[in-house]
Amino acid sequence: MLSSVYRLTVSLLIVGFLSSAYADTPVKKSGLTTNISTEDVHLRIDTFDEIDRVFKALRFKVVNQRSTNREGSLEYSSQLVELSYRLPDLFDTLSSRESFPMSRSRPEIWSQKARFDLLMDEFVDNLEQIDDQIKTGDLSKAGRLIDETAKGCRRCHNAYRYK
Ligand code: HEC
Repeated sequence: MLSSVYRLTVSLLIVGFLSSAYADTPVKKSGLTTNISTEDVHLRIDTFDEIDRVFKALRFKVVNQRSTNREGSLEYSSQLVELSYRLPDLFDTLSSRESFPMSRSRPEIWSQKARFDLLMDEFVDNLEQIDDQIKTGDLSKAGRLIDETAKGCRRCHNAYRYK
């Protein structure tokens, strides 16, 4: 009985040691690997294309048409929030130009990651606020937020996306 408890303890210790050793590989820490998958690069591009389409539709409805149909706008704004949640993880790992020529991401995303993350946070935050205002708040405030968010798209692209 005692020896089986002993064996269990030893094997748990070994498992614990091995998993902590693997969790901390330098490859993962540096963030400078080129092991993002091709699927993830395509998902990133497709997500932005989708965001572009839905954002334009939302802007047209709320800013240009001044629509008061909350439900119609909410379909777009909630879709945008969901789409934006995919993005941060898709920038965890560097994708080099050499390995992924179809990607327009600049290496500065990873060499200035803190600033990039800040712009990304701001973007997700704005989309959440727009969604909230459309749900129960002030539609003209939603419109102003949409225009501000559009400036954020350009600001980020100027620094972090190839032309
Ligand atoms: C925090 C930075 C950031 C913000 C904010 C941002 N983008 Fe982008 N966008 C990028 C980067 C980086 C790429 C390149 C992705 C790639 O190709 O790997 C990109 C790509 C795109 C693409 C082209 C897809 C491609 O890669 O060929 C479109 C369209 C686009 N963004 C639209 C928008 C719109 C519209 C907004 C705002 C509503 C927006 N983006 C906000 C960083 C951003």
